[in-house]
Amino acid sequence: MNEVLLRRGERPQIRPYTLAVPVQARAAIKGQRPRCIWMTGLSGAGKSTLANALEVQLNQRSLHTFLLDGDNVRGGLCNDLGMSAAARRENIRRVAEVARLMVDAGLIVIVSAISPFRAERDAAKALFGPGEFFSVYVSTSFATCARRDPKGLYQKALSGQIKDFTGLDSPYEAPLDADCDIDTELLDLGQATAMLLDRLQIP
Ligand code: ADX
Repeated sequence: MNEVLLRRGERPQIRPYTLAVPVQARAAIKGQRPRCIWMTGLSGAGKSTLANALEVQLNQRSLHTFLLDGDNVRGGLCNDLGMSAAARRENIRRVAEVARLMVDAGLIVIVSAISPFRAERDAAKALFGPGEFFSVYVSTSFATCARRDPKGLYQKALSGQIKDFTGLDSPYEAPLDADCDIDTELLDLGQATAMLLDRLQIP
């Protein structure tokens, strides 16, 4: 962790400024209901594929969106963070705060991140109001993810070349109350995307 993180407890005299343009006004000119759609699941479960397919569908409906993908965010905003439990907690805290800001900006935000810990997912959800947060558990099993192994990470983790690997030597706490559960072994991409649109009540 860098020096900035170590100073987080310090709170100089900072008071939030009430913005002149209210949240509803940003959403209104976009003609949409802003919200955060949060996808959690193991590495290789199909989160990014599903998140991209969903964003394409929303974009085709002229909805204003953004996709916060774990691998992409880790290339910039979170490029100082590793894969320890503490680093993952900070990663998810940042992603959740950015998603909150983007929802305030009027966007429909899709988050695709392993987000392995229940407490951080609950904390993320707590940043949003009723109807603003929709959780998706991409529940593809460890065995299937390891068999697919799209990035070759399972092979490396199983042979001890990668430490703290989710589902192996770093825990994954499956959601107990997801709004939608998608096992990409049981549904193909088209079916899974259609199911999400249906559950989100986006015609
Ligand atoms: S999270 O746990 O902090 O939510 P995040 O979704 O941002 O993780 O990043 C996961 C990505 O990092 C995976 O898609 C994978 O490509 C890569 N990765 C590298 N090391 C690991 C590891 N030890 N465990 C899981 N994923 C890893």
